[in-house]
Order: sequence, then structure tokens, then C-alpha cells
Amino acid sequence: MIEFLDDEFSALNTWIEHKAPSLLLLLVDQNTHHHCLPTLLGNLTTSIPYEIIEIEAGEELKTIESAVQLWEILAEFQADRSALLINLGGGVISDLGGFVASTYKRGIPFIHIPTTLLSMCDASIGGKTGIDFHFYKNLIGTFQLPQALFVYPQFLSTLDQQQILSGLAEMLKHGLILDASHWEALCALESLDPKSLAPHIKKSMAIKQDVVEKDFKEQSLRKALNFGHTVGHAIESLYLKAERFVTHGHCVAMGMLCETQLSVQLGHLSPTEAEQILSKLQSIYPLLSLADFADESLLECMRQDKKNTQRKGINFTVLTGIGQNLVNQTIDESEIIKALSSYRALARP
Ligand SMILES: NC(=O)c1ccc[n+]([C@@H]2O[C@H](COP(=O)([O-])OP(=O)(O)OC[C@H]3O[C@@H](n4cnc5c(N)ncnc54)[C@H](O)[C@@H]3O)[C@@H](O)[C@H]2O)c1
Ligand SMILES: [Zn+2]
Repeated sequence: MIEFLDDEFSALNTWIEHKAPSLLLLLVDQNTHHHCLPTLLGNLTTSIPYEIIEIEAGEELKTIESAVQLWEILAEFQADRSALLINLGGGVISDLGGFVASTYKRGIPFIHIPTTLLSMCDASIGGKTGIDFHFYKNLIGTFQLPQALFVYPQFLSTLDQQQILSGLAEMLKHGLILDASHWEALCALESLDPKSLAPHIKKSMAIKQDVVEKDFKEQSLRKALNFGHTVGHAIESLYLKAERFVTHGHCVAMGMLCETQLSVQLGHLSPTEAEQILSKLQSIYPLLSLADFADESLLECMRQDKKNTQRKGINFTVLTGIGQNLVNQTIDESEIIKALSSYRALARP
């Protein structure tokens, strides 16, 4: 269930009243504690007791150590299966909180109130929970849907521009793979303030929700959501290793540039449509240089992509038009190197 909240959080209050949990556990990070929790608490009308659990902000906290701490805290609060964990934050909070709730006492109820654009349009939908382990992202996790998802776009007013653009990349991806009119509408956006974004957030959430409902365990259709991520994740890993900060969405945007190029090379996408995509993405996202990274290092990361099976080649989702995709394309490494070299040519000053 996805509900957009009004300024009084009526839908949330009604839902809590109806469910009548024994205890509310509010999970926040230090930023959402500061920027979002006061609004939530100011609007909560329930008399059910609540506890606040705060962790530091950042991907570094999405670990087994944090999960252990949270399990301990839940035990200390004597949380039972009628307690409710409320994840108020970005994707780190929803992944970690969802993981902890879905494993503690074999699962207690949880809901998400996403506070970043990326978590509204992507991380909070689809029931993937998880933590990073041994330097691998999301290595340990569960598939468990939240009981409800409440969205308040106004929370985005305190989010910095880089994080807004990071979430926007996932929204553009939704348009490119499945809905040309969504892509067009996003391209025409003049402002990225919460009010202008709100209807598009709704649309993006509906697109992802629909995909997930049709293919929860990612057997086929859900792989479409990986468009831009095969190359994007490789770029993200190498930038991380080099300790150069860059957002996930920015890397995905670069990945979409390369994978659009691949789609043309393989004869799936017309050069005219590709040109529209490439110029739009480049007008929003500065090109990330790959000058310090060899093709082989990028390929090595791509070979580890979880979509790959034992077969030769690397598994991609390609575009066949704006709003249309083809999953499970096993592509020869020589083609990938060619696409990377087109990208490198764009990124050369
Ligand atoms: N489960 C899934 O399907 C899925 C999908 C995509 C991404 N993810 C995961 O999501 C995570 C990334 O999510 P994210 O980009 O939201 O990162 P995040 O949770 O780290 O949030 C980004 C930053 O914004 C701050 N912040 C959050 N809300 C704010 C607000 N309203 N105002 C000011 N600051 C605020 C956070 O404290 C943090 O510093 C990754 O761990 C990724 O693996 C999961
Ligand atoms: Zn992504």
C-alpha cells in the first residue's frame, strides 16, 4: 500500500490507529532525525508509546554490526511481533531497518517513510532489504515487503541537489525502460522542487510497483530495472575504491549513456532516439571521467554482476526504443569495450 501524506499525516495516523501496534520504534539517521523527525512527531496523534533509534548517516552503517546493535535494541525494548518499526530515512535506513525487522523474531511489521528521492522512487518499493558484507553491496538480505509506504515529498526540501539528481536518474530510467511519456515529462521539468516533483514521484513509484508485482523475485521483467546499472555499478565500485565520492544515481546516469550506446551498436535502438537520450542525460549530469580506469578493471566489476549466469558474456538490459526494453541480453566483451570507448570519447575534454 502506497499513500501520499497531506500536511497533517492523516493517512499515517488512521493506519496506525487501525493497526494498533504495541510500540512504535522510529528508526532515523542523524540527518533525518534533524530534518524529518520533528515533522513526523509533530503530526503523530497516537498515544501509543514510541522510542527513537538513531544511527549515524551513510552507507558505511549498512553493516552486520549495525544490524546486531539494532537487534539488541529491539530486544531491550522487549519489542514483540505487534511492535511496529518505522523506517524514516533514505535507502540505507529502509534497507537496514527492513532487514532487521524481517529477521528479528522471524519478522515484525515495518513501514517505510522515505525521505530521499531515491528511496521514494526506488529503494522503498519492492521488498528488497539488506546489508553490505565483506565489501559486497547488499550481499546479505531478505525479500520482505513493508506493511505500508507513506510518502511526503515535502521532506525533499532539505535534501541537497546531488541527492535529488541521484534519485532523478532512477526516475529517468523508469521512463526509458517502460514509459516514454514519463521520460518526456521528466525531460520537460523546469524545477526539481518537491511540489514540481510530486506527480512524477507518484508515476515512478507506480512503474516500479507494477514491475515488482509482476516479477517479485527478479526472474525476468524486474531485470529491466537494472538498465544502466551493469556499467553504472562498475563505475561506482571503481570510484569508491579510489575514494572519490560520487552518488549512485550519477553513476547510473553514466551507465545509461554507455548502455544506450550498446543498444545502438547491437541494432536494437535507432541512432536518433539514442541521440535524444544522450544529449538529455549529458545536459543534467557532468560526465565522469574513466581516464584512470582500464577497460579490464571495469569489465572485471561487470563480470561480478549478479545478473550473470555461468554463460559466457555479460548480461545486460538494452533499450529497443524510448520506453521499451529487452532483458537478458548476453553481450560479448568486445562490444562492451566499443561502447566504453565511445563514452571515453565523449568524456575527453
Ligand atoms: N532495496 C532496494 O530495492 C534498493 C534500491 C535502490 C537503492 N537501495 C539502497 O539505498 C541506499 C541509497 O539510498 P539513498 O540514496 O537514499 O541514501 P542514504 O539513505 O544514505 O541518504 C543519502 C543522504 O541523505 C541524507 N538524508 C536523507 N533524507 C534527508 C532529508 N530529507 N534531508 C536531508 N538529508 C537527508 C541521509 O542522512 C544521507 O546522508 C543504498 O544503500 C542502496 O543500496 C536499495
Ligand atoms: Zn539504482
